[in-house]
Amino acid sequence: MGVVERRLDETGGRSQRLIRSFVLREGRLTPAQARAFATLWPHFGIDWTPGEVLDLSALFGNDRPVVLEIGFGNGESLAAMAEQDLGRNWLGIEVHRPGIGHLLLEIERRGLNNLRVLRQDAVELLRHGIPPAALDRVQLFFPDPWPKKRHHKRRILNRELIELLARAIRPGGIFHAATDWPPYAEQMLALLDDASDWFINTAGPGYYAHRPAHRPLTRFEQRAERLGHPVRDLIYRRR
Ligand SMILES: C[S@@+](CC[C@H](N)C(=O)[O-])C[C@H]1O[C@@H](n2cnc3c(N)ncnc32)[C@H](O)[C@@H]1O
Repeated sequence: MGVVERRLDETGGRSQRLIRSFVLREGRLTPAQARAFATLWPHFGIDWTPGEVLDLSALFGNDRPVVLEIGFGNGESLAAMAEQDLGRNWLGIEVHRPGIGHLLLEIERRGLNNLRVLRQDAVELLRHGIPPAALDRVQLFFPDPWPKKRHHKRRILNRELIELLARAIRPGGIFHAATDWPPYAEQMLALLDDASDWFINTAGPGYYAHRPAHRPLTRFEQRAERLGHPVRDLIYRRR
């Protein structure tokens, strides 16, 4: 599937231009990942149909605060966070099937009951599937930086996403992003500081945050460290 595609809109069947933050590469599933889709997805996967609003309490069977992680990659750090914090419910969303298979196996290995997985475009889910103020925290760790200028429009963190986050995160809740791509970090900082009607920069306007101890190094971050890229955390509180 291409990044830019055409589809019918919901109202009148007029064609609408969509720019996505990912290019779907199927990638091969290992036999263990294929088994995970067959046997674990029915328990831990959420088959969301676009347009449906999720009932998070019903999905988890309790009313604990919910953390959403966008683009979890192979899910190792998400699974570790969910295991460390059983008092919260964790929802991971990713489009890359091998990564999802990997996370399903981690859920099984760690015996987690507080983590569910979606295979969807996170922007679509936030537009249509999450009730207002339903999330305690949203995490966006090492989103694709799309370094070429002509690709900047594909960066997931933009004004629309900030608006969607402001709607989905409860008052007092947190949005936590991290990136190893300095120009993207600067853009995120500027866009989020500019949204000060909704979000307060916990480090103070114009400043990056320290990596909190509860955030383990992600796989992508380990690569960034090997390459000597500086890692920036951005942590904002919803007013
Ligand atoms: C650079 S990787 C980082 C993965 C992981 N967070 C880490 O730090 O190792 C970015 C991930 O975001 C996913 N992604 C990009 N756009 C997405 C979207 N709109 N919805 C869900 N996942 C998305 C990609 O498939 C990719 O796995």
